Amino acid sequence: MSFKEKVIYQIYPKSFNDTDHDGIGDLNGIREKLPYLRELGIDMVWLNPVYPSPQKDNGYDISDYLAIDPLFGTMEEFEALIKEGKEYQIEFMLDMVLNHVSIEHEWFQKALAGDKYYQDFFYIRDEPTDWVSKFGGNAWAPFGETGKYYLHLYDITQADLNWRNPVVREELFKVVRFWMEKGVKGFRFDVINVIGKDEVLKDNPVDDGKPEYTDKPITHDYLKWLNQETFGRDPEIITVGEMSATTVENCILYTEPNRHELTMTFNFHHLKVDYENGDKWTTPAFDFEELKRLFHTWGEEMSKGNGWNAWFLNNHDQPRALNRFVSVENYRKQGAEMLATLIHLNRGTPYIYMGEEIGMIDPAFTSMNDYVDIESKNAYQMLVEKGLSEQEAFRRIQAKSRDNSRTPMQWTNEKHAGFTEGTPWLKVSASYPEINVEAAKNEKEQSIFAYYQRLIQLRKTHLVISEGDYQAYAPEHPQVYAFLRSYRDEKLLVLTNFYEKTTKIDLPEEFVEGKRLIDNYSDTVISKELTLKPYQAIALLVK
Ligand code: NOJ
Repeated sequence: MSFKEKVIYQIYPKSFNDTDHDGIGDLNGIREKLPYLRELGIDMVWLNPVYPSPQKDNGYDISDYLAIDPLFGTMEEFEALIKEGKEYQIEFMLDMVLNHVSIEHEWFQKALAGDKYYQDFFYIRDEPTDWVSKFGGNAWAPFGETGKYYLHLYDITQADLNWRNPVVREELFKVVRFWMEKGVKGFRFDVINVIGKDEVLKDNPVDDGKPEYTDKPITHDYLKWLNQETFGRDPEIITVGEMSATTVENCILYTEPNRHELTMTFNFHHLKVDYENGDKWTTPAFDFEELKRLFHTWGEEMSKGNGWNAWFLNNHDQPRALNRFVSVENYRKQGAEMLATLIHLNRGTPYIYMGEEIGMIDPAFTSMNDYVDIESKNAYQMLVEKGLSEQEAFRRIQAKSRDNSRTPMQWTNEKHAGFTEGTPWLKVSASYPEINVEAAKNEKEQSIFAYYQRLIQLRKTHLVISEGDYQAYAPEHPQVYAFLRSYRDEKLLVLTNFYEKTTKIDLPEEFVEGKRLIDNYSDTVISKELTLKPYQAIALLVK
C-alpha cells in the first residue's frame, strides 16, 4: 500500500489506557486496544516519547534514547507490541527528539563534570544571544559553575544538541537505527527544523516570528545525511518532521521525494488563527479568512512543488479543535465530522489524535491545580506578572493549555472513564459520562466513530483522495472552505460549512450530477445552488 493511502493515529501513551493501575497509561494498555484501532481502520500509530525521562516536559526531555521508561513498561513489552501490531496490520511510529536531551542524560552530566569531549555535544558559550525559550524566559542558562551558558530552546532541563559535531550526528543516527532494528516503521522528528545552528550564533535580527535558527540551509543537509544513514535504507519507513515557524518553500524542500529528506512535514500556521498578534495566550474568535487562505496556500503550493503535508487539527500540544472551531454545545457531532472531512479528503496524510474519533472536547478544569503541563504553568505566571487578574489568566489557560488534549482517553462512562483503576495522573474530562467509546459504539452508524471509519476507507479506495492534485474552490466564500482534487479522469469536490448558519454555494455544472461520496447529513438535495446546513460537509465525485 502506498504511504499516501495510510492514516496515522496519535497516542499520548500517558493518557491512553492504564493496565497496571498506577494512573499512567502503558504499552500493555495500547496492546489491549489494538482491536479497537483495527476497527477504526488506521494503519500506523505514532507514540509520543516512551523513553526514560525525568518527565519535566512529559518525555520530550529524554535521559536515555535506547530504553523504555518503566512508567510505560519494558523493552520486551515494546517488542511484543510491535509484533502483535503486525497481526492487526498496525505499524508504529516513534517520536525522535533529536534537537535536545534532558540535562539528566549521561552526555550532559559528563559535560557538566568537565569532560571536553561531551561539552562539544552542546552549545556552551561565554556570551549568550538574545534568544528566548519557546516555553518563556531566557534560552540560555548557567552551565554549572563555569561562568558559561548552555542553550535550551525549550525548558531549562532540555539542552540543545550540537549537530555541527559529527560525533553527535553519528550518535543520533545510531539511535534511529536501534529502533529500526526493533521493527519501527515510522519516525516523527520533534522540532527538527531548528537543529541547524550557525557556528557563530547571532541575535535575532527582527522579531518576525521566525527566529534565527529556523530552517537554516544546513538543516536540509543534516536531513539528507540522516536519511542516508538510517531510514532511507528501508523504503517502507514513513517520516514526518515537526516544523516550527516554517515556510511552504522549505517544506517543499524537506519533502520533495527526489531530495531524500523526509516523507512529510507538520506545520502549525493553521492553528495560530486564534492568536492575537501571534500571541498564543489570547482568545479571539478564529480568523476564518486566514484559515482558508492557509489551507489553500499549503494545499496548492505543496501540490505544485510535489511536497507532502501531514494534516491535523488536534495533537498533544493543542487544545481540542472542537472547542476552537465549532459551536460545540449544539453541533459537536456535525462539527467533528466537518473538520474530519477536510483533513481526510485533503492532499496529504491525515493524523487522528486519540479521542478525536469520538468527538472529545476540552476538559473544563476549574483550578490551576488541575494542570500539570510546564508550559501552562509558566504561562499562568507570566500572564499574572504582566498584570492580568488571576481569573483572566486562568481563563486563558483554560482555553489554550496543552493539557486540554492530554486528559485520559474516554473509554466508558465508569469511574475515570475506564482509563485506569488507579488515580489518573491528569484529571479526566468532565464530559466522559456522555462522550466515550462505549457510547459511540451504541450509536452505531450514527456515531462520529463510524464517520471516521468511512473517511479512512475512502482514502484506500479512491486514488483521487490519496494521489490527486489540490486546487482551491470558491476561495472568497465567507463561510465555506472548499477544494477540488483531481486525478486522471476523476474529480472530487469537497465543501465544508464552517458555521452554524445555513449557507448556499454554486456548484460547477459537472458536479450537479456527481456522486455523493460522503455527507454528514442524510437528506441533502444536490442542485446547482447547493444549500449547506450547519457544519455540513459533503464530497462529490465525478468521472
Ligand atoms: C514539540 C513537542 O510536540 C512538544 O510537546 C515538546 O514540548 C517540544 N517539541 C519540545 O520537545
